[in-house]
Amino acid sequence: MTLDLKSAIRTIPDYPKPGIMFRDITTLLGNARAFRRAIDELVQPWAGTKIDKVAGMEARGFILGGAVAHQLSAGFVPIRKKGKLPHTTVSIAYSLEYGLDEMEMHDDAVEAGERVILVDDLIATGGTATGAVGLLKKIGADVVAACFVIDLPELGGAKKIEALGVPVRTLISFE
Ligand code: PRP
Ligand code: ADE
Repeated sequence: MTLDLKSAIRTIPDYPKPGIMFRDITTLLGNARAFRRAIDELVQPWAGTKIDKVAGMEARGFILGGAVAHQLSAGFVPIRKKGKLPHTTVSIAYSLEYGLDEMEMHDDAVEAGERVILVDDLIATGGTATGAVGLLKKIGADVVAACFVIDLPELGGAKKIEALGVPVRTLISFE
């Protein structure tokens, strides 16, 4: 099962910078069986539990998080790069494997105490997910887990999120 998902992901060496092995999920998304399996596996621990909202990080987290939210009959909350959201926002700076950025969420996207899971395609340094957890906590969400298709364990991101008290679930890893 795991092998199928892994082989559906394409690796592009030296993108977007020399030394980065870019794990490209567009090949997984374009493969109906692999896409279905990834969503089923992301959803599986939460089936039958109360999840109010799924939060997804721009841009790849929108695709996976939207499908997960639909399957769980939960709402979807987009966490976007700075300057894209039209209503009042909370914002936070975050670091990436290959740069720096700022992310935002509408300040009324989640009600205090709502149970939220975070979904993205990949966790590397954990900078993006740390920012997203920070945003969700700022507005009082109960962040019950962070879920990713791909873990890059050498970069330590999953451990960083666990240290914030948020359980992490990943489907496959690239050493
Ligand atoms: C990628 C990926 C994650 C993040 C992981 O997004 O989709 O969101 O990097 O890296 P980290 O754990 O080191 O923070 P990217 O910032 O490249 O944005 P994109 O999806 O808009 O291309
Ligand atoms: N985001 C951060 N690091 C990445 C990688 N190696 N491949 C794809 N997306 C990423």
